[in-house]
Amino acid sequence: MRDRITPLLTEEQIRTRVREMGRRLAADYVGKDLVMVGLLNGVFPFFADLARATELDFEVSFMQVASYGGGLESTGEVHILKDLDKSIQGRDALVVEDIVDTGLTLHKVRNLLLDREPASLRICTLLDKPSRRKVEVPVDYVGFTIEDHFVVGYGLDYNGKLRNLPYVGVFHP
Ligand code: XMP
Ligand code: MG
Repeated sequence: MRDRITPLLTEEQIRTRVREMGRRLAADYVGKDLVMVGLLNGVFPFFADLARATELDFEVSFMQVASYGGGLESTGEVHILKDLDKSIQGRDALVVEDIVDTGLTLHKVRNLLLDREPASLRICTLLDKPSRRKVEVPVDYVGFTIEDHFVVGYGLDYNGKLRNLPYVGVFHP
């Protein structure tokens, strides 16, 4: 599988950018009641690194939704497989995602979380593929804007695998 990957972002590029994002979040959320909401499974390496780069006291919580059937295309349907374990009402929620592609997943997740009346709700993603957008979603923090490639590594998968690669690469199926 690894022989079908062309490197896109190195470990070093990711590390540098994630540190910058953490500093920015620390400045923006100082004095706030932050809950970092991670969208599983893809977010796990980014979330762990971003949370440690954000030198503030905050809570974390995870949600898992299904939008992909293991293939390459979003279905537009979102089911909650795992919900948050804490309330975000009146709190400052930051949704952290691995990649925003069509925007369908985050659009639905955002509406779902807004119904719970957080004091604020922002979105942070490692990668953004704006050329693929089907629905407008306000993305407040973007690590890297990329072209329309199918990418793997640093949390992103092909058929559930390759999430453990420490870098991001373009996958050629
Ligand atoms: P949408 O289209 O709803 O997609 O914005 C968000 C989810 O789709 C997955 N996704 C990808 N996964 N390589 C992947 O491994 C990709 O290039 C890719 N593009 C979208 C991802 O799970 C994300 O949460
Ligand atoms: Mg995925």
